Amino acid sequence: MIDFKKEVVNSILEIDSGLDKEEIESLIEIPPSYNMGDYAFACFRLAKTFRKAPNLIAEELANKLDGGDYFEKIENVGPYINFFINKTKLAETVIDNIKTKGEKFGSTNIGQGRKALVEFSSPNIAKPFHIGHIRSTVIGNSLFKIFKFQGFDTLALNHLGDYGTQFGMLIAAYKKWGDMKVIEADPINELLKLYVKFNEEAEKDESLRDEARYWFKELEEKNEEALELWQWIRDVSLKEFNKVYDLLNIKFDSYAGESFYSDKMPKVIEEMEDKGLLQESKGALIIDLEEYDMPPALIKKSDGSTLYTTRDIAAAIYRKEQYDFYKNIYVVGSQQNLHFRQWIKVIDLMGYDWAYDCVHVPFGMVSLEDGTLSTRRGRVVFLEDVLKKAIASTLKIMEERNPNLENKEEVAKEVGIGAIIFQELFNNRIKDYIFSWEKTLSFEGETGPYVQYTHARASSLLEKGNFKLDNEVDYGLLNDEDEINLIRFLYKFPDAVLDALNKYEPSIIARHIIEITKAFNKFYNSCPVLSAEGNLKNARLMLVYSTKTVLKVGLGLLGMKAPDRM
Ligand code: ARG
Repeated sequence: MIDFKKEVVNSILEIDSGLDKEEIESLIEIPPSYNMGDYAFACFRLAKTFRKAPNLIAEELANKLDGGDYFEKIENVGPYINFFINKTKLAETVIDNIKTKGEKFGSTNIGQGRKALVEFSSPNIAKPFHIGHIRSTVIGNSLFKIFKFQGFDTLALNHLGDYGTQFGMLIAAYKKWGDMKVIEADPINELLKLYVKFNEEAEKDESLRDEARYWFKELEEKNEEALELWQWIRDVSLKEFNKVYDLLNIKFDSYAGESFYSDKMPKVIEEMEDKGLLQESKGALIIDLEEYDMPPALIKKSDGSTLYTTRDIAAAIYRKEQYDFYKNIYVVGSQQNLHFRQWIKVIDLMGYDWAYDCVHVPFGMVSLEDGTLSTRRGRVVFLEDVLKKAIASTLKIMEERNPNLENKEEVAKEVGIGAIIFQELFNNRIKDYIFSWEKTLSFEGETGPYVQYTHARASSLLEKGNFKLDNEVDYGLLNDEDEINLIRFLYKFPDAVLDALNKYEPSIIARHIIEITKAFNKFYNSCPVLSAEGNLKNARLMLVYSTKTVLKVGLGLLGMKAPDRM
């Protein structure tokens, strides 16, 4: 695809302005409106070098410039030189590129030969997989897809919370009051009940805490009974989680969770010792981080058991050895900012030069309209229920809108789930937001169904118009303002994808495809497609095809489906 910005640079290089490439690039701006051009070259900073007023410089340079094939007009206004892209060239380069690359449009190979690990979702076993987990799950899955799309060898990791002192409690509770049959019928709720009961009873009877500690110790020492119970709890939990992953169409390459790293810790602790990082404090082992304005990292508790932090350190070292990653990405809520800053610093202090290839991608909180989520208060909303409710509501809407639709159930699933995913990804991830059913499921406004519906509309236009990919197209015919506007958004899609990757921010893609959707609907309302004459119809159908393709790619990168009929 033609890089018009680069062509601006080239044309200025050619006239011998005395400026080098980097200098020119740094002076290029995007004007606030297309009436003022697609790119502007600002001459203010040249006044010193040229010893002349900026508008005189602009005027002189503009006179020497020739737009060639790429620009239909180059205009000097005050201290600026404005470049207007040749619209036929623009249409041609974008549409040709979409035609050739198809659903790879917007991809590059910047990731070639590089490994990216994306760790996301990572729920705690024996605990509800609730609406609060949706963010990591959906943002992580999208980042996974974006990295893969840019050629990275990408792995999806689920760092299950399957270890820690709470399993001592669960095992102790199970041994006292548990019933395998009851648990298997409704694992998470029943395990949660046991956990809650244990805590209540422990308030009254301190000795229970010792029992829990005992069982966790046994687990760490690989006592057979403890291990078996733990394995069973892990299995039934994972089975529940997989229902959600199936609904969301998410697959992981590894479920190596916290437990996986438990036997890798002694070596790591020894290494910290050898490197002189450890200090004793009240019987525990810590690494002092005062110099870096952080509280100490707790490496080993006074009772000898290891900690969440230590497991993360061991996991990162293991991943480096195992995968030699280029980036090791963690999609985890902003409540854990300090935790990540601490342990990544520890990796740095251990002398590993890849410490900052470990990237924490934080996000804000989600809450429900009727209050916040809390496991403690027992007002949990299970993610599976939310997804199922979205599917059911969508099915109802479909039945009203399009009762004869084939495959209604399947489409309702794609749209219902898509609605949840899109709502999740539309906002900048760091912002807290309130989950709203009404907004999520609307077919209008900035929602998933709106984009999917527009994609389906484009599909149906192509079918009705008997579209053929190898039709000859006269790009010069696509000169309506609404056509050009749409083409501009398509042209910028690849940049939006790269920007999303660099900022770990899927919302950039979500927002960009909303812009494309709006521009498409505007075009659709002002430029008749099916009733247009011969060549114009072909050209417009080609634009419809291009839009449909880009919407599908964009939705796919968010982890959504693009049904052809709705
Ligand atoms: N299981 C943790 C939780 O639910 C999240 C794990 C995040 N990942 C990590 N490597 N620490 O809070």
